Amino acid sequence: MVGARRSPGAGAVKRRRGAVRVAKAKTASSRRWLERQLNDPYVQAARDEGYRSRAAYKLIELDERFGLLRSGMAVVDLGAAPGGWAQIAAQQARVGKARGLVVAVDLNPIDAIEGVTFIQADALEFAVLGPIRAALGGRRADLVLSDMAAPATGHTPTDHLRIMALCEAALDIAEPLLEPGGAFVAKVLKGGTERFLLERLKRVFRTVKHAKPPASRADSAESYVVALGYRGQGGSPE
Ligand SMILES: C[S@@+](CC[C@H](N)C(=O)[O-])C[C@H]1O[C@@H](n2cnc3c(N)ncnc32)[C@H](O)[C@@H]1O
Repeated sequence: MVGARRSPGAGAVKRRRGAVRVAKAKTASSRRWLERQLNDPYVQAARDEGYRSRAAYKLIELDERFGLLRSGMAVVDLGAAPGGWAQIAAQQARVGKARGLVVAVDLNPIDAIEGVTFIQADALEFAVLGPIRAALGGRRADLVLSDMAAPATGHTPTDHLRIMALCEAALDIAEPLLEPGGAFVAKVLKGGTERFLLERLKRVFRTVKHAKPPASRADSAESYVVALGYRGQGGSPE
């Protein structure tokens, strides 16, 4: 079972830094990757606390800053594998045996998580909306998360276009499902959100901010757009 839900924080992260571990690996790039993993305090914390990914701490930190998660809520988690965000969302949504639920979607399969309905599907396909609606069981979503990312090509404009397409697809899924007042979080790349997407977000949410949680690696171009206070009309989520 997953341990206490809190970011390891700057103090714990510093304490875990200690002696640098040196990896034995065949190639220079695999050695660099392995050393980074061995010496990453969030990787260690995730292992100690039973989270499936270090990414779990990004959601914990975004939640600490924006108050996204609460007991009883319905959450849609796009790009969920291997399941760190879904674990955190399920923990919070089901506090005190509340009626909270999490619907997680990914191209890749994940191992089952209590309180999470998993759908293996491509979020770029419009047809994904049907199974998500069915899993929500007639409820609207209070929060739609997207940590979706395509494998990096190394060609910055291509990577930027791909992540924007994923972000836009996430918003296409979020809009018909969200409860009025609901929230939307999506991964974007440095340079923030494209103007057209930012304008769209500002039209449909009361507050739109960008955030880079401390658990997001400093050398990574990723950040998150956090949109709060969905202005939708409500009614049946059809
Ligand atoms: C950074 S990982 C997500 C990590 C996850 N939030 C966690 O905490 O474990 C990005 C995920 O996005 C998924 N993804 C990328 N494109 C997708 C798409 N079109 N539809 C669904 N999932 C997608 C990938 O398969 C990958 O598992």
